[in-house]
Amino acid sequence: MTTTILRMNPTLDQMHAHRSIRKYTSEAISDSDLGTAVEAAQQAATSANIQVYSVIRVTKTESLQKLVELTGGQEKVAQAGTFLVICGDMRRHRLLAEAASEQCTENLESFLLCVVDASLFAQNLALAVESLGWGTCFIGGLRNDLQAVGELLDLPKGVYPLFGLCIGRADESPWQRPRLPIDAVLFDDRYPDDAAMLGMMKAYDDDMAAYYEKRGASGRRWIGQMEQFFASPRRTGDRSYYESQGASLG
Ligand SMILES: Cc1cc2nc3c(=O)[nH]c(=O)nc-3n(C[C@H](O)[C@H](O)[C@H](O)COP(=O)(O)O)c2cc1C
Repeated sequence: MTTTILRMNPTLDQMHAHRSIRKYTSEAISDSDLGTAVEAAQQAATSANIQVYSVIRVTKTESLQKLVELTGGQEKVAQAGTFLVICGDMRRHRLLAEAASEQCTENLESFLLCVVDASLFAQNLALAVESLGWGTCFIGGLRNDLQAVGELLDLPKGVYPLFGLCIGRADESPWQRPRLPIDAVLFDDRYPDDAAMLGMMKAYDDDMAAYYEKRGASGRRWIGQMEQFFASPRRTGDRSYYESQGASLG
């Protein structure tokens, strides 16, 4: 299915307008825009309506400064005006179980439910705030030192910080980053053979090289970066931190 974009509507336009924003003005999102966006995001589908996510807005200057450090020096965390920590949340279900003298059994599946539900909510939230004219950037650097993040936010058992989200008024207009061709992600009936997949990635690598060239970073390539990305295990402390919070990932 080699498509170009055939039909657009305001929702599709908004989705296609996405770019991560890494420079912000000093204008912070209003409580009413944030509240509106969170309520819209909560309408995301959720596994069996369990709603196993929550979001912590970090407002204290000292905490934001500490989070800049913990995310590897990402100044935008403090500069955006609003920084949210998106969490998987089994806490509420633990409380319900405790009150009913029931078990709240956590396993890999319950953790996956948290990650899936929180991610669907978070993407809805980003899209909602972008539709209100604000810029966003997710922050996976939040997992660089989960123990320190957990202590900073005083997270109770059953709450799993997953990633951050900066929200603020954009002070830059970055080029849009191309994505893989649709044929590399949407398949009819069976997964493509390796040669076809490698060919599509090679074509995308050329698109990305052109994108980097436009950005003044000529010579950078996507394939080279991807080869490095998983060359060694990433963030090896995740498992022990989440298990210390009550997750069971075995
Ligand atoms: C879960 C997640 C974590 C991310 N973490 C970071 C981050 O720590 N720092 C950053 O600058 N961008 C981060 N990003 C943004 C990605 O780099 C960006 O979405 C990707 O390169 C595509 O670019 P675009 O969003 O502008 O289209 C993250 C994105 C996601 C979805």
